Order: sequence, then structure tokens, then C-alpha cells
Amino acid sequence: MSSSDFRPIEWSGDARSGTLRLLDQRLLPQAEVWLNYTGVEEVADAIRSMVVRGAPAIGITAAYGMVLAAINGEKRGLKPTALKQHLASAHSVLAATRPTAANLFWALQRCSNCIEDSPSAEMLLVLARSIHEDEVAANRRIGQFGAVRVQPGAGVLTHCNAGALATGGVGTAFAVLSEAHAQGKNIHVYVDETRPRLQGARLTAWELSRLKIPYTIICDGAAASLMAKRKIQLCVTGADRIARNGDTANKIGTYSVAVSAQHHQIPFYVAAPRSTFDVSIRDGADIPIEERAQSELINWGEEQVCPQGAAVYNPAFDVTPAPLIRGIFTEMGEISPVTEERICATLGK
Ligand code: MRU
Repeated sequence: MSSSDFRPIEWSGDARSGTLRLLDQRLLPQAEVWLNYTGVEEVADAIRSMVVRGAPAIGITAAYGMVLAAINGEKRGLKPTALKQHLASAHSVLAATRPTAANLFWALQRCSNCIEDSPSAEMLLVLARSIHEDEVAANRRIGQFGAVRVQPGAGVLTHCNAGALATGGVGTAFAVLSEAHAQGKNIHVYVDETRPRLQGARLTAWELSRLKIPYTIICDGAAASLMAKRKIQLCVTGADRIARNGDTANKIGTYSVAVSAQHHQIPFYVAAPRSTFDVSIRDGADIPIEERAQSELINWGEEQVCPQGAAVYNPAFDVTPAPLIRGIFTEMGEISPVTEERICATLGK
């Protein structure tokens, strides 16, 4: 893989016998292992177990999962009505994987619309490829709009991973960092480690290393003290789902970053494509928040480090209220101030 434009999701073959290939993100950065998928149940497992993660990447993967379901249905000789039922159940299997990522439901809805009249693997593959390519193009524009806000010499804090691994393109929040770096702005990135799955320390740091962007990993709890020391001039994160009023769900801990940034008068930005907005949801209170296994918190590697029977709460995401967000970088431009009116005008809703 080249240093900048690697893709963690690949389709190989055609609409009769294709295979989905995913870079196993659970093993990074220690090992770069690719896994092959030919069935929708396995793709759902890959999303659930975070072989692939990040809202846009989940949406792209689900679209290819629908192609695999169609290929398998056609191989079994299913007639259009039976094939439609088969695809409807594939849709349900994929939709049940990670409830917060709006891009998952957006991509599945587009797949359903595409096969409304006549279901075919061929048509689904064309659609999946275009969803993939559109995300790549959107990422570049997000980076360009976001980099405008980055001052030369800035310390920039990010949380979780919103890079190529999470999107299939150059990333969302990460695109802002890489574009600012490419423009010679001499930035330094502070990377929240991102408990409990360490997407920051493992994945964002890996991506920054590949592009030779200077960075420092910090534990999540260190962010506020670095802000107090004036080391951070801007914060930017990705998003899993943005409600109509701009309330934004992202990796657990994002809300704490935004609150700390507000206290220190540091601008906090979100970067996200159109596919992450869910205008059917009025505000953040209605965003479904995924809760994950207790083992992610109580184990260190394979070993349990907490007392037996410890009570555990492990939400994967939190919601940052719109008033804490200075602006949202999208492929259509920056949405600022973050209000329902501006969001709907930008999305044409
Ligand atoms: O649980 P994850 O790793 O899927 O969470 C990912 C995030 O929170 C990202 O910030 C978000 O999906 C945006 S990715 C462009």
C-alpha cells in the first residue's frame, strides 16, 4: 500500500463471483491482514466485531454485503420475488450490526431503492461502487473546506479515527489534518488514545505516521490539561450520526473534548459527509447509542483486570450538543453556525 491513498475496503471480481476484501483493523498496527468475504452473515460479523469500522466505511461495506447477498441468491436460481425477499433479509441482518452509524442505514436504503423494480447483483455492484467513489470524492472536499480553519503552527486535537480506515477515502477529520499538513501549515496533531478500543492510539497514529504528520498520543483524560497549557488551537472529530438540529453522535469521549474546548475558548469542529446526516431525527436525544460488550472495558488484552462482578457501562458513542460545535465541514462546504436551518439549507431538505 502506498503512503497516502490506501483503501481498507476492496471489491475484487465481478457481479457473478466477486469477493469483498477488508483490511482487519483489529490487528493494526501490528499486522496488516486482509480477509475475504463471500457471504452476508460474515460481512455482518466483520462490521459487528470491528474488522471494519467508522461510519462511512460501515456504509460502504454494507452495500458490498448486499451485492454478495444478491450474487448468492442468483447462484441459487432465485426468481425476482424470492430474490427480493432474500435481499430484504440480508438488509435486516446488516442493519442489526451497529445502530449508531447513520451511513449504514443510508447505504442500505439506497440499496433497497435500487432493487425496487428488478433485483440484480449487477445493479447493486454499480451502486456499491458509486457509494464508495462518492465517499472518496467527498473526503477530499471536506479536507479542503476544513483546512481553511487551521492556522499555521496549530496544535490540533482529534478523537478516535476518522481517517482512510474509517471512510474508504482520505478520511473526514483526518482529511482536514492531511490537507493542512500538505499545505505546509506545520501542524502538530494531539491524538486521544480513545478508550476502550484505542482507535486513536492504534489507527489514527498509524495513519499519521504513514504521512509523516507530527503527532503525540495522549490518554483521553489529558486533553483538557493540554488545552489549559495552550497546546491546542483547534479540535476536529468525525461523526457517526448528525441530527437535524446539529447534535452529533461520535465516539465516546467526544462530548468531553467539546466541553473542555468550550471552557478554553478553543473551536471544536466536526467533519462529516452528507451520508452521516439524519434529518429524520430532531435532536441528539433520539440518536440510538450502541452499547458494547463489558469485556472491552474490564479486560486488558485477554486478561480481566477489574474485580469479578464489577458493574460496567460501555456506550460506544456520546452526543455533542450543537451549541458546542463551531462548524461542520461537509463536501458541500462548512455549516456554521450549526443550526437546523443551515443544515437543511445545505442538504437541500
Ligand atoms: O466505533 P467506531 O470505531 O466505528 O467509531 C468510529 C467513530 O467514532 C468515528 O469518529 C466516526 O465513525 C466517523 S469516521 C469518519
